[in-house]
Formats: sequence, structure tokens, C-alpha cells
Amino acid sequence: MTPPYLEDRSPGYGALPPRAAVSSDARSLCLNGDWRFRLSPDAASAPDGISDDGFDDADWSELAVPSNWQLHGYGAPAYTNVRYPFPVEPPFVPSENPTGDYRLRFELGPQWLAEPAVLRFDGVDSCARVWLNGRELGVTRGSRLPVEFDVTSVLRAGANLLAVRVHQWSSGSYLEDQDMWWLSGIFRDVTLLARPAGGITDYFLRADYDHWSGAGTLRVETPAAARISVPELGIRGYPVDAPIEVGAVEPWSAEVPRLYDGELYTDTERVPLRIGFRTVAIEGGQLRVNGRRILFKGVNRHEHHPEHGRAVPREVALQDVLMMKRHNINAVRTSHYPPHPEFLELCDRYGLWVVDECDLETHGFELLDWAGNPTDDPAWADACLDRMRRTVERDKNRPSVILWSLGNECHTGANLAAMAEWTRGRDDTRPVHYEGDADCAYVDVHSRMYADHNEVDRIGRRDDENTRRRELPFILCEYAHAMGTGPGGLLEYRELFERYPNCQGGFVWEWIDHGIARRDAAGRAYFGYGGDFGEPLHDGNFCADGLVFPDRTPSPGLLELAKVHEPVRITASPEGIRLANHYDFATLAHLAFHWTLEEQGVEVTKGTLDVPDVPPGAAVELALPELATTHGETWLTVWAVLAEDTPWAAAGHAVAWGQVPIVPGAEVPPAIVPGAEVPPPTGTAVTRSPGGLELGIAGFDPRTGLLTDLAGHRVRGPRLELWRAPTDNDRGGPHPEDAAWRAVGLHRAQHRVISVHADRTELVVRTRVAPAAVGFGLLANYRWTASGDAVRLRLDVEPDGEWPVTLPRLGLGMAVPGEFDRVAWFGGGPGEAYPDSRQAARISRFSSRVDDLQTPQVFPQENGTRIDVRWARLTSATGAGLRIDGSPPFGLAARRWTAADLDAATHTVDLRPGEPVELSLDLAQHGLGTASCGPGVLPHYELRAHPASLTLVFSVLA
Ligand code: GAL
Repeated sequence: MTPPYLEDRSPGYGALPPRAAVSSDARSLCLNGDWRFRLSPDAASAPDGISDDGFDDADWSELAVPSNWQLHGYGAPAYTNVRYPFPVEPPFVPSENPTGDYRLRFELGPQWLAEPAVLRFDGVDSCARVWLNGRELGVTRGSRLPVEFDVTSVLRAGANLLAVRVHQWSSGSYLEDQDMWWLSGIFRDVTLLARPAGGITDYFLRADYDHWSGAGTLRVETPAAARISVPELGIRGYPVDAPIEVGAVEPWSAEVPRLYDGELYTDTERVPLRIGFRTVAIEGGQLRVNGRRILFKGVNRHEHHPEHGRAVPREVALQDVLMMKRHNINAVRTSHYPPHPEFLELCDRYGLWVVDECDLETHGFELLDWAGNPTDDPAWADACLDRMRRTVERDKNRPSVILWSLGNECHTGANLAAMAEWTRGRDDTRPVHYEGDADCAYVDVHSRMYADHNEVDRIGRRDDENTRRRELPFILCEYAHAMGTGPGGLLEYRELFERYPNCQGGFVWEWIDHGIARRDAAGRAYFGYGGDFGEPLHDGNFCADGLVFPDRTPSPGLLELAKVHEPVRITASPEGIRLANHYDFATLAHLAFHWTLEEQGVEVTKGTLDVPDVPPGAAVELALPELATTHGETWLTVWAVLAEDTPWAAAGHAVAWGQVPIVPGAEVPPAIVPGAEVPPPTGTAVTRSPGGLELGIAGFDPRTGLLTDLAGHRVRGPRLELWRAPTDNDRGGPHPEDAAWRAVGLHRAQHRVISVHADRTELVVRTRVAPAAVGFGLLANYRWTASGDAVRLRLDVEPDGEWPVTLPRLGLGMAVPGEFDRVAWFGGGPGEAYPDSRQAARISRFSSRVDDLQTPQVFPQENGTRIDVRWARLTSATGAGLRIDGSPPFGLAARRWTAADLDAATHTVDLRPGEPVELSLDLAQHGLGTASCGPGVLPHYELRAHPASLTLVFSVLA
């Protein structure tokens, strides 16, 4: 039998009214640590009497609090996106309901008995029943929300015994169907707090900023007879029963997060304050802060750690904030629940706009056509409202929080409308967001997820029949699904956000891959995802869709986002260089500008630029600096860096860069026509040897016309390839490209050698490449010539017949000796890039080991291609190797496995390095798009069969 309290729809019982997350000088005791622990397979088999002093827990083990028990050897994590992993018959939950019993003995001095006290849990998943010293305190639900119990009359001087019974499933689980791992336990802090009589139990501090006068106003609401001091503003001991006009202040913004230290106090308690003055308003169809339109360059952040699950250590939360700031991210949506309260303090301090979201999602009801959806059922009204109250009350004093969000993917319903109404009544300083209110009947902001570029364009033009919606500011609460390689199309979203004042940016889905650290039988580390833990129902790697990998190393997508969102746009102009300030509030005064001039990617000279202070939204044009004369391909790269240390990055940290192509002597920088210096064909003759055909340094197989060696180095290819290991985006959407490609057999294209013809100084190999069973294909002609110690290949490709599908890739595959595992190139870098995700690639000279060119996607797929490569060198430790020059510049990938191996692998450890280095020398690739959830590849980034040519020159490096 399931205990009745588990399946009652209420929020629980026994809790104190919610209040602000207050830290004060009142006595407190952190109860985190190793607790006695026992997991029972169901509630019925959990032992009786765990709250009794005399209960014997000697055979229990220990578990750290905070933690998720599934990550410490109890049960297993399970991942589902939309589907509930149990039958949907609300509010009932399975009898097989893993139940964790916790016991903690702690000592208290007699001073604890002198005043009231509360016991606070910051997060318990999903339902807890709590006893202190044998007395039941209550039951709580709302996993990512705080709860407090009054323990005044229960505490003992000396030994105390806290017992907590936590159930994995409860009625609350129906309200917590977020797309993430199902993880249980006491996963946030547990604290005992003294509540001095006459202390500050709660307060609501509103610090408004009047952008016309520059003045601030403090409004403090508290049941206590408190006073406030903000010494920097000359406020000392003011009563708080009326608004306080504080005169001129510096406002708080995500860009300039100015905080004033203060104190709220009574005779018995002092609460330190960090006050940020700011006013959020919706005016003229725009969301404005301090009178200015803001642009969200945001991300959705789940709390995830590959070893600790949702018990994210504080230093890791700080790492998230610092990484966001360093990658030009200015906003966070706390998807899909209030984060650990300290995270918001970090946002206040370092400067991030926050959309604080309630812990509420009922997405699984969508599969029942929303029948029985709790958000529209009066029986669940209290539970819904309780969650919103606990969110708002806890976080109401955070300046970084500028929007409240009712939850995620709950469809719509009266309970949501009631939550919105209550929120507005409680807090008149922040608008309400909820994406599921499609008509915007009870929200203040129009929000969509994964709207494609065309839809955003339409919204920008206010082309909408719904008059209410049309008048509201628009945000994408989720877009650019960062799953696997990608996302593609970020630049085009930015262009829309900048074109239309009512389109105020969005939040990339999502910050981090929810991979879980594992090891294979050989002890090799990798990250697991849905289905790796024996879950009968799961959603595979759909949880690996972040801008950072599970270990928080940045993915190429994060670097692309940082470049797309850079706050200074540096471009060529008729004057020379144009610097545009894209901050909403900050001038460019905190930045220094320096430049380097590179010829063939090698620095020739460098200098600094004198830049006047440019206000937000303005631009300046500067003459080119005096530049040295160069002869080869030359680029001027201008960097905008922090002039001084900031709390989030050191002086010299680059926030933006831009490149200007330079042709010496030209007055205006022209568009560059890059190209390798390709030697003309000469008269080296093709000869026949017993082993095959020879042309200069090259040996060929006379039957296939493929290279077999270059100056004695064994090679294979180059040969036309159409396949790439499909990305998550290729596999996504209602009409996956991957399926279309496989349906016609592009993953198993066959090569027919039409002719291998040696014509004195030229070897001409004609082929046709096509999959089985279809009539269309590609004609590929290879013309080889030689000169000295170089051979030159001219490849001409032409479609044969009508192609009904796009192509994943048009490139050459070639294997070179495994010892050539060092790559240097002149072209786009340092990271990977694809047609619709290439802003972060600049033209310079780069080098890397082959192994380090790989992007460790949790689910292996196409990755690591460098673009616009003019030349590349592949060498061994001794410097011996090959040089490949290309015209036009080509795409380059080098791997220790083939595209087929990459395609077959499902985890990083499946990729076993082979002997040769496999090269991809690409004419083109299909774009990436974000079809794993959202729009596919924009038409101009699609790769269609078309006539194409590439010239490559292979030379040997001794
Ligand atoms: C959205 C949802 C997110 C996540 C995302 C796909 O619909 O709000 O929680 O599931 O799709 O990764």
C-alpha cells in the first residue's frame, strides 16, 4: 500500500509560509554531510520507527547530503523527455516506489533552545516526510523549492535526531515532468536556522531606478520593525515604513552589475543586503530595463553535473556563470525550476539577466491530448500556486531576476492563469512569462520555442491576428537546439533580433549536456545517456544537447554563440575599420583594441588602436593603421579585449574580434580572393612500372586510378565521398535528412571506374559515383599532372541525372600514414566550422595533433571539420610528411577512423583509433541547422548536387 500522503494532490503539510532566502547573522547550522541511509524498493518495505531514538540503523550505509542517491549506487538514473516513466493516472504513483530513509544525529548547545528555530530543506526530490526527535514535522513536495518547518519546541540541547523518508515518486512527480534525469533524494542543503524574536523573518526589497532622473527609490516590505543602512548612499538607520528616495544612483544591469552593500536590521537580527537598482517595464511593445530595450543573449540552464547530478557544487555554479560571461552570454532562463538560491546571487554579482522559472512541467499529458492536465484541474490549484509562491517568495530580492516564468510545457489552464495573477499581485516590478500561454491571455511577454527564422520575421513585422500578442515584446525562450554538432543558423537569428525592436533575443537550448560519467569494461571514461542505465523507457541522447560537454568543456557551438553575440562588431568600412557598440548599456571605455597583421597567417606587425568612447548602439569608423608591405595573402585582425581585470575575466580577455582583408597598396580593403599558389602543370610524363602507374612522386593503381603512394609514403585515395556521419540535427525533425540520404543509399555509394587514361603528362581518371538502385549519380573526373616534387589533382564533379535529395558532403577521402598525426594549416580555425556555423573561424595559421581535432560529442557524429583551408601540412614527429594546397580553399578533417566508424559509434569509447589517418578534403558540406528540435538547414546552406571543381597540389615534406 502506498501511504496516502504520497498521492494527495496538496503540496504537503506542516510547512511554514514561504519567505525570502534570507541570510543573516542569526545562528545557523549546516546539516550537510554524511547521513545514515537505506534504500527500500518500495514504501511498504521501508522500516517502521526510523524516527525513534532507539531505532537501530547500524546496518544502514552512509550517503552524502546533498546528493542524488542514483549516482551513489542506489537504484539507477532514468532519462525521459516527455513521457512519464509510470502509468498516467494522477495522482497515483507506482507501488514500486524507491524510498530512501535518512537519519542524522546532531548536537546542539543550549543556546539553541533560547529562541525559535526553523529547519530548511532547499531541495528534496520528490516527496519527503520529516521527523525531528520523534516528532513529525510534515510532508513536503516541490523538489526544486525550499521548505521550512518550525522546530522551536522540538529541538533538544545535546543530541538531536533528524529522520527523513524520501520517496522517488509522489503526486508531485506529475508536476515535475521536465526533460531531464529522474534523480531522487536530498540534493540541496539542509540547514537549521535560529529565528530570533523580533528578527527579520522575511523582507521584500524593491530598488527602483528612474532613468529620467537617475534617482533610486528603496521600498522595503517586512513584518519586522526594521531599519536600513546603505552607507555608500548616506542612508544610515532609516526606518523602512515608507519609500526612501535615495537620490542619484548607478543602476544595476547585466552589463554593469552595480550593487550597493547595505544592511537591514532590527535589535535582534542583521541581514546583509546587496542592492541593485533597476526598473523593468514593458513600454511600447518592448521589454525595457532602466528605460532601454534589452536583448537577451541567453541560455537555458539546467542544474547538472556528470557525477553529482542536480547536486551541483557551488564552485561549479560559479564556473557556469564565469563561462557564460566569458562567452558573451548575458541571460539565463532557469529551466525548468528555480536553481540553487546561490546561483542567483552569482547572477546578481557578475551580471546576468534571469528568467526565474517555477518548478512545474506536465508535458507528459500532451500524449493524452492534455486530458487530466493538472494545470487545468481545480484539484491541483493549491499545488500549482504553492509552487509559484515558493519561487517568488524565495527569489524576490534578486535584482538579476527580471521575469517570472510560470513553468514549462504545461499546456494552458486556469491554475496557470491564477499563478500569473497571484504573481502580479505580489510583485509589481517584474513581468510574467510562460511560453505555453499561446494567446498571451495571462502573460506579459510573447514567448515561443524553436520558432524558425520565418516565423520570427513575421512576429518582428507584427504580422499577427491576435492583437494582444502583437503588442507584446517577443522572446524565444528556447531556440538553437545545441544537440551534437551545431547549432546552425545562429547568425540569422541574431540578424532578426537586431532588425526588429520587439524581437528581444532568446535562450539557446541548452547550457550543458546531461551526460553521466561512466567507464567501460576496460576502464575508459565516457558519458552515458538515456538507455545506458537499463531504463525500459528512455529518450536516448536527447539529453545531450548543451553548449558545453558534460564536463563543462566548451563545445564549438558555444564558441560560435560567443562570436555571434560579441558586444562589439568589427568590420571593414570605407574608412578602414568600423567598430559598432552592441552593448545595451555599456560604452566601449572598458575595452582596449589591438591588431595584428598576418601574412599567410604569420604575424608581420601589430599595434593598438585609439578608439574614442562609443556609446551603446553607436559606431565609429577608423582609418586603417599604418601597415607593413606584404606580398602573400594578408589579414588585419582587430581584437577588443578587456582593458582591466573584471570579476569574471582578466585584462586581455577577448570579447570580440574582426578581420579585414588587406591588399597592399589598395586604398579600400577589397574582398579577398583567397587561393593557393598552385604550380602550373609541367611536362613530367606518366610512366608504367610493374607495380602500377607513376607520375612524378605519385604512384597509382592502374585499375582504380587511385593514388597508392607519394614519394614512398603509402596513401589511399583521394576518392569522391558523399557521406558524413549524420549529426543529431541530420537525424532530427519530421523529415530527417539522414533518413532521406539513407533511403537513396548515400551511405553506400558505389564507384564505377569509367576509364584510367594516361595521356603523356596527364593521368585522367573518369568515374561515376552513385548508390545502388537509383539512376542519378555524380560524374567525377580526376586529372593528375606533376611538377618537380609535387603532383596536382584537378577534380571536376558534375551531377548526372536528377538528384531528389540534398548531399551530406561533397569531398575527397584519403588515407595517409598514421605517423602523420600533426596537422598545421592556413585557413579557418582554430575550431571546427560548417556553412551555417562558421562565425568563430578566423583566417590564420593553426596547428593541432590529429587527436585534438576531434570534438568529443557524447553521441559520435560528424565533427571537427576545419573550413577555408588554403593549405595543410600533415607531418610526423620528425617533420616528414605531406603538404596539400587547395584552390578554392577546402574543408579539412583528419581522424583515426572513417566516417563509417563514426556513423556506427554510439558512445565515444566505441571509436577505436585505426592505423592510417583518414583525411576529408571537402569541396562542400551540407549545413547543420537545428532540426534535432527546431528548424532544419536554411535553404542557402543546403548542399545540392551541382558542378564543382577543386584543385589540390600534393607535395612531400622531408
Ligand atoms: C523543449 C523543452 C525542453 C527540452 C527541449 C528539447 O520542448 O522545453 O525542456 O525538452 O524541448 O531538448
